[in-house]
Amino acid sequence: MNPQLTQDGRLRHLLTLDGLPRAILTQILDTAESFMDVGEREVKKVPLLRGKSIFNLFFEPSTRTRTTFEIAAKRLSADVVNLNIATSSQSKGEAILDTVDNLAAMHADMFVVRHSQSGAAHFIARHVAPHISVVNAGDGRHAHPTQGLLDMFTIRRYKGAFHNLTVAIVGDVLHSRVARSQIHALTTLGVPEVRVIGPKTLLPAGVEQMGVKVYHDMAAGLAGCDVVIMLRLQNERMRGARLPSAQEYFKFFGLTPEKLALAKPDAIVMHPGPMNRGVEIDSEVADGPQSVILPQVTYGIAVRMAVMAMLAGGATA
Ligand code: CP
Repeated sequence: MNPQLTQDGRLRHLLTLDGLPRAILTQILDTAESFMDVGEREVKKVPLLRGKSIFNLFFEPSTRTRTTFEIAAKRLSADVVNLNIATSSQSKGEAILDTVDNLAAMHADMFVVRHSQSGAAHFIARHVAPHISVVNAGDGRHAHPTQGLLDMFTIRRYKGAFHNLTVAIVGDVLHSRVARSQIHALTTLGVPEVRVIGPKTLLPAGVEQMGVKVYHDMAAGLAGCDVVIMLRLQNERMRGARLPSAQEYFKFFGLTPEKLALAKPDAIVMHPGPMNRGVEIDSEVADGPQSVILPQVTYGIAVRMAVMAMLAGGATA
């Protein structure tokens, strides 16, 4: 039994894409599609989560995820509280579950949690009362399920389907929760060829067991790709030097127009952000015609609306 699902198979928490059935992933993508036009309306709101209280608990920095969760919750008419961790009682040593219990006592219905420790969202989900849902907004190097979902939504929008694609994930897969969530989603949704490309020091040992092909050379790895996903070097999670220098890394693994030309001519370029221009990606590519990096951010709102609406038990625009 998947702890993220109720006994009748509905979404109860969203903690990881590992083990979530294809039907649930597809339902989230379809529901997000139905929310796409809400952002175009004069009144950008639907009443699905009216009266619900959603708490954003971001123990790690974020620009895109925190903001788009807030916008998504507001578009669903929920009341949103962004806990400022720096000025909260966490800074006085309060335990995370005490913080959660106190917010639950304020009648929280949902917690959106980002934390540097892998497993933090699972820990909270095991603790909360049955009526409270937990969404993992990124935990350590483990999972970032809504990023994985918005990436799948982006791929489906630009490529139409998953069954005929070759997708490459390039860079620091070792420290990337995003890459893990993407790999689970891509393989579950039926992408026949998922590649990871990077230096040996930045690919996890045994990553092939996740159903991916491993490349250490950009020319071979990018050949014939439909989708190229670039990852940031996650220096904050690295222990010790894994690379000679950022310049050396860019030379071999940075996505330049010349390297992108090795993929299919209509390949799209994605990046979860934040980007480090000149380290993993050249500005000419990041801002070029094949880049869908900013649409990814926009789609994140509809995808997060879909997740929150499904967790709350209602899901139509
Ligand atoms: N992609 C992503 O998680 O970005 P933020 O860290 O800005 O939320």
